[in-house]
Amino acid sequence: MDYSNLKKDDQEIMKIINKEEKRQIEEMEMIASENYVSKAVLEAMGTVLTNKYSEGYPGKRYYGGNHVIDEIENIAIERAKLLFGAEHVNVQPLSGSPANAAVYFAFLKPGEKVLGLRLDHGGHLSHGHPVNFSGMLYDFAHYEVDAESGRIDMDAVRKIAQKEKPKMIVAGYSAYSREIEWKKFKEIADEVGAFTFADIAHTAGLIAGEQMENPVPIFDVVSTTTHKTLRGPRGAMIMCKEEFAQKIDKAVFPGMQGGPHDHITAAKAVAFKEALDPSFKEYAKQVISNASVLAGELMSLGYHVISDGTDNHLLVADMSSKGLSGKDAENVLDRIGISVSRSTIPNDPNPPMNPSGVRFGTPAITTRGMKETEMKRIAVWIDSAIKNRENIEVLDSIKKEVREMCLEFPIPSV
Ligand SMILES: Cc1ncc(COP(=O)(O)O)c(C=O)c1O
Repeated sequence: MDYSNLKKDDQEIMKIINKEEKRQIEEMEMIASENYVSKAVLEAMGTVLTNKYSEGYPGKRYYGGNHVIDEIENIAIERAKLLFGAEHVNVQPLSGSPANAAVYFAFLKPGEKVLGLRLDHGGHLSHGHPVNFSGMLYDFAHYEVDAESGRIDMDAVRKIAQKEKPKMIVAGYSAYSREIEWKKFKEIADEVGAFTFADIAHTAGLIAGEQMENPVPIFDVVSTTTHKTLRGPRGAMIMCKEEFAQKIDKAVFPGMQGGPHDHITAAKAVAFKEALDPSFKEYAKQVISNASVLAGELMSLGYHVISDGTDNHLLVADMSSKGLSGKDAENVLDRIGISVSRSTIPNDPNPPMNPSGVRFGTPAITTRGMKETEMKRIAVWIDSAIKNRENIEVLDSIKKEVREMCLEFPIPSV
C-alpha cells in the first residue's frame, strides 16, 4: 500500500501500522474468524466514499448527492443476491452483532421467546447470552450439543422447541465444526410456528464457495459478516425472503443505524465479485481440507477434538488432557507466532475467560496458500510447543520455523 501521506502526517500511527503489518507477515493467524483481504478490497475501503452520508436506500435517500453511491450499493446488492441466491439483501449492517440486532428488531417484540445454541456449546453472544443485548431484551431458551458426539441432536432441538414454543429459532454458530441441518431446523420451526434465522457469519465463504449447504433458500432470514471466510471488509449483511424485505430494511435504517459506511459497501461489492469467481470455490474447498487434515493430525497426537473432526474451517480442541487451560495454550502458541483463540468446550468445567479449549481456524493460512503439507508441520509445532512450554530454546526454535514458513507464503494485503 502507498502510505506516503500517513508517513508524512502522522508518524506515530504509521509506526504502529507498520508494526502490525510486520506481525501479520511474520506470524500465523489461526483465529477462525480472521482472514486477509485482497489489495483490491483494501483499496476500496480507503476511498473518498467515506466522505458521504447516505441515510436511506438507493433512490430513497435523506441526503442529496447520492446518485453515485446508489450505483455502488445497487451493485453490492446484486452481487450478494447472485452469490447466495437471495431474494432480498440489505448490505448496510455495520457488523455481525448490529445485523443480528436488526433481525431480532424486525421479527420480534422485546420479551418474546427465541431459541438459540448455548454460548459455551459454540453459539454467539448475540444469540441470547445474558451479558449481551439479545439476552437482556429477548427471552432466550437454549439448545445444546450432545455430550457424547459433540453434535447438535435434532431430536433434542425438536423437544425443546415443542416445550418452549419460541417465536424464532436461531442456527449458525461461532465454534461449531459440523454441517448444520437447515432443513430439519425449518421443519421444527414450522411445527411450532417459529421464524427461522440463520447466522452464517463463520461459514458464509464456504457456503458462497458451494462447499457447505446454503440456508438462504430455506430460512426466513440470514445474517452474515462480510469478513471471516467470505474474505471481505469488516461489516455484515442481511438476506431474507421478499415478504420480509420491508421489515428488515426498516429495522436496519431507521431502526438500528444511521448512515451506511459507503466505502465499506464498495469493498463488500469487490469481495462479492472475488467470491463469485470460480477460484473462490477452490479456496473454500482448500480451507475445509486444511481444517480436516489439521484435526486429524492433532487427534493422532492425542488431542481431543470436539465431535472428532470438522466439516468446515474450524476445530475446537480440549487442552485439559495435556494439562493446561485454553488460555495457557493460547499464550504458548502466541509465544511461537501462532495466534489462536481460547474457547469453551461443551459443558466446560472452567469459566469462559479461562476455558478448557482452543479454537483453530484455517481461513487465513489458506489464503496465504498453505495446504495439507503445511498443516501437518503446523500440528507438530503446536504439539511440540505445548509439550515444551517451559523450554525457551525449543519455543524460540519453533518460532523461527513458523516465521520462515510465513515468509514463504506472503499475505495478499500488502
Ligand atoms: C456467529 C457470529 N455471529 C455474529 C458475530 C458478530 O460479528 P461482529 O464481531 O462483526 O459484530 C460473530 C463474531 O464472531 C459470530 O461468530
